[in-house]
Amino acid sequence: MNMEPEDDPSVRNIQLDSVKGDIQFDNVSFAYIEGKEVVHDISFDAPSGSVTALVGTSGSGKTTIAGLAASFLTPDSGQVTIDGVDLSTVSLSSYRRHLGVVLQDDFLFEGTIRENILFPRPDATEEQLQQAVKAAYVDEFTDRFEEGLDTLIGERGVKLSGGQRQRIAIARAILADPKIIILDEATSNLDTESESLIQKSLNELMQGRTTFVIAHRLSTIRRASQILVIESGRIVERGNHQELIDKQGRYYELYTYQARI
Ligand SMILES: Nc1ncnc2c1ncn2[C@@H]1O[C@H](COP(=O)(O)OP(=O)(O)O)[C@@H](O)[C@H]1O
Ligand SMILES: [Mg+2]
Repeated sequence: MNMEPEDDPSVRNIQLDSVKGDIQFDNVSFAYIEGKEVVHDISFDAPSGSVTALVGTSGSGKTTIAGLAASFLTPDSGQVTIDGVDLSTVSLSSYRRHLGVVLQDDFLFEGTIRENILFPRPDATEEQLQQAVKAAYVDEFTDRFEEGLDTLIGERGVKLSGGQRQRIAIARAILADPKIIILDEATSNLDTESESLIQKSLNELMQGRTTFVIAHRLSTIRRASQILVIESGRIVERGNHQELIDKQGRYYELYTYQARI
């Protein structure tokens, strides 16, 4: 939020009205600090509707790659394209209308659950809201509150569990209905019930959208269209779960020591 306004109309002058959601990385490199490249020569395709799981140890470059896909970061060389258009030429506000970001500890504000879910799309109809609430299994706990969706959360309201907060964040993303989703899965130890409801709601969220997930849950990794194993800013292995298991390489090692993913 402290960053200067990013939109530079002279460079970013392409407006995206509707998008299909094909994302492509083409020899992308990136450095936060000049001369200290952290992501090197990354190339892959994420076709519309596919799920790309990024796995690798801490500091390997997963968040940076996700940030490049979100256009929070711009490649120093190579390009990221959306539907064949160089993302660095696309107006940020027009791209972000098609982009949903669900982070580990998502931002919920002091207010009602309803207000929190409606936040990205305040003009949504009650029916659209209810559909998102059901898809994210938020009603599973709000039905037990006297005030339902109008229950206050935050300092002066009810305390929610980590899993409940996450489902609200997922409902919010479903309601926003973006074509591209960037998801940083929580590693926190959720109770088994929350875990399975979150998995179900994530499945609803990913449906029909191009998804990038920094994946920690084996169930997500297994279902991914492609898994990119990142090591020191490079893709060292790629394939789906079965292919990478059969290969008995780096992924197999990570998978065998699951705690390291
Ligand atoms: N804002 C930043 N400024 C400088 N270096 C950074 C910044 N963010 C991340 N890095 C460095 O970039 C590398 C990749 O980090 P990151 O993409 O966050 O990895 P991961 O998400 O896999 O843990 C690390 O060496 C990290 O220290
Ligand atoms: Mg990270």
